Amino acid sequence: MTAHPTPTASNLDAYWMPFTANRQFKDKPRLLARASGMYYETTDGRRILDGVAGLWCVNAGHGRREITEAVARQLEIMDYAPPFQMGHPAAFELANALVALAPGLDHVFFTNSGSESVDTALKIALAYHRAKGDATRTRLLGRERGYHGVGFGGISVGGMVANRKAWPTAMIPGVDHLAHTHDIKRNAFSRGLPAHGVELADDLERLVALHDASTIAAVIVEPIAGSTGVVLPPAGYLQRLRQICDRHGILLIFDEVITGFGRTGSPFAAREFGVTPDIITTAKGLTNGAIPMGAVLVSKKIYDAFMQGPAGIELFHGYTYSAHPVACVAGLATLSIYQREGLLTRAKEMAPAFENVVHSLRGLPHVIDVRNYGLVAGIELEPIAGSPGKRAFDVYLKCFERGLLIRTTGDIIALSPALTIEQKHIDELIETLSTALK
Ligand SMILES: Cc1ncc(COP(=O)(O)O)c(C=O)c1O
Repeated sequence: MTAHPTPTASNLDAYWMPFTANRQFKDKPRLLARASGMYYETTDGRRILDGVAGLWCVNAGHGRREITEAVARQLEIMDYAPPFQMGHPAAFELANALVALAPGLDHVFFTNSGSESVDTALKIALAYHRAKGDATRTRLLGRERGYHGVGFGGISVGGMVANRKAWPTAMIPGVDHLAHTHDIKRNAFSRGLPAHGVELADDLERLVALHDASTIAAVIVEPIAGSTGVVLPPAGYLQRLRQICDRHGILLIFDEVITGFGRTGSPFAAREFGVTPDIITTAKGLTNGAIPMGAVLVSKKIYDAFMQGPAGIELFHGYTYSAHPVACVAGLATLSIYQREGLLTRAKEMAPAFENVVHSLRGLPHVIDVRNYGLVAGIELEPIAGSPGKRAFDVYLKCFERGLLIRTTGDIIALSPALTIEQKHIDELIETLSTALK
């Protein structure tokens, strides 16, 4: 197999890297060459423990042969199939496998990413109310600090200012936001769901009182917010959101792009927390990160509302690569690994050990909070005055030099290792991270 030559300083320039400090990176590049199991290897041959499953997606660990073989085989058999007015068997098989895992959601719309899943879900929510003759329900509600990808819909309902401020006039109209649930004054160093903050769900009642329920189509939240730095739902919060949505005929969308496929210890966070939303958005772990793919799961009530309209195309929406055959077989192979190896519930088994070691970071310099659930943890650092984000990014660089990949957002370190992690990896991860923090 021919490896690609390592780029030299002069040919790093053409690639405009996403969500990256391009100048800083190109000055001192961090280049990955290969990956296997829990580890990456850099182009200069250093082994890096992957503490974040790539980007919250490689849930079964890297280099799974079953996925590779399924993808290679599918490329030989049929490289592409048009998804409009046409189908192929693997798409139906994957949709059936997904609804078998989902809590009461019976239909699947395929996309190619989390961002596309979110925009698809928002469009379905709006079109659903219209299909029912409830066309005044046009408002979409998100939450402060929410991350729902980078489409115009996603950044509009999202609540991360850096992702919004360059496009103020391009936000979709009629969007409002719930208060976020991050409260380290009351909940610092929580293990599992934080005890305080269930009442923050009542902020939805405030928005209903302000706008009137008859104008609100849907609320979208991440059951556990990842990209904003691991913000956990206070105990009872998601249940209360569900009750308020039911009371007012508002659809509840869970963005499970990172919490789907076993991260919490259940196939979906909806199942873990015992709350059934009307729509779930997924991506990432769906194909173990090997091939881009996303999926939107919807309830029968929503699907049926579309199927009762006039004959013909029911939803004018879709992508050239929706249900791409290569992505579908990657998804099927991934789900079969998850099932066979018990990975969709393994986070529950590993959580106590993971929790203990991450909380051992309490007391290290500048650590102001540690929080965790399943196989996800957030470690929040005291920001350096005048330089937000610098403290955590310095730790990120130190960890990478010492052979560990973590993720940072602002001054929060996020850990989300593959669900195949073993005790020895947990120990190595914490040893490197605590050295970097010290
Ligand atoms: C909750 C959530 N929604 C949506 C997205 C966007 O997914 P993608 O980057 O695949 O578009 C992400 C990505 O991290 C996410 O965490």
